[in-house]
Amino acid sequence: MIIYFSGTGNSRSIAQKIALDGERTEEIFDIKEDVLKDGRIGIVFPVYCADIPHALYEFLKRVRLDSPYIFSIATAGGGAGRSHGSVAYLLKEKGTELSYSDTVIMPDSCIVFATPEKLREKLLLAEDARAGEIRAATEIGKKNSVRPSLPEGALNRFMWKFFGFTMGLYNKKVTESCVGCGLCSAGCPVNNIEMKDGKASFVTGKCENCFRCIQSCPERAIEFGRLKVTDRTQYLHK
Ligand SMILES: Cc1cc2nc3c(=O)[nH]c(=O)nc-3n(C[C@H](O)[C@H](O)[C@H](O)COP(=O)(O)O)c2cc1C
Ligand code: SF4
Ligand code: SF4
Repeated sequence: MIIYFSGTGNSRSIAQKIALDGERTEEIFDIKEDVLKDGRIGIVFPVYCADIPHALYEFLKRVRLDSPYIFSIATAGGGAGRSHGSVAYLLKEKGTELSYSDTVIMPDSCIVFATPEKLREKLLLAEDARAGEIRAATEIGKKNSVRPSLPEGALNRFMWKFFGFTMGLYNKKVTESCVGCGLCSAGCPVNNIEMKDGKASFVTGKCENCFRCIQSCPERAIEFGRLKVTDRTQYLHK
């Protein structure tokens, strides 16, 4: 089976493309079991601040993956950072092993480091070929070695603080431009956005900072502190 987390669609698209015919492919938020058992399990996720998303950390703490072949596939704007090592560490804590990992460079979802349009097009054109390579490698059970490393380390914490303080990432707001279409509320993976009096509103501090809401708003009515969507920075995988 393939499990994934995806904010703006890159990881979802890769997960779907590397899945074998008829293989169960599911987002982590929809998985209720505490143990997942299969002949192979792939974990696909975006890199956040040089590591795995916090939601994936919580998921791998909660769920035991029971499989002889577990592989992790990161999608990233620049590189995987420590993310594969973190997955290996969390699996090892549960007595299992990461057999293989790979990283696909995709358009950056986070606005701060928006991928230039020409490069975006190039990366998306290369996506099917990269997914095909990973599908073939994992189908034959290819292995490489990944050294476990403690998740959510100093660099990761520093980067989240940097985004928080200098960009105002945690200061999310919905502006007057909101037309109440409900897209952001329906799409939020952790139900952090409610519709009140025909307008969207952030309701809890429980945000994964996946950028799905800000990137998918057709009116560009969502702002994360100083981070605003423009023609140059808006990105959502089709
Ligand atoms: C909050 C945040 C932090 C990110 N940090 C990194 C990073 O440290 N390194 C990197 O290469 N890409 C980083 N990215 C870019 C994403 O990893 C990349 O665009 C990924 O493919 C998005 O996948 P998704 O569409 O499945 O959410 C970050 C994106 C977000 C939203
Ligand atoms: S997606 Fe944008 S316009 Fe639609 S409800 Fe959310 S904030 Fe308002
Ligand atoms: S509020 Fe927005 S950024 Fe936060 S988890 Fe929901 S969709 Fe993602």
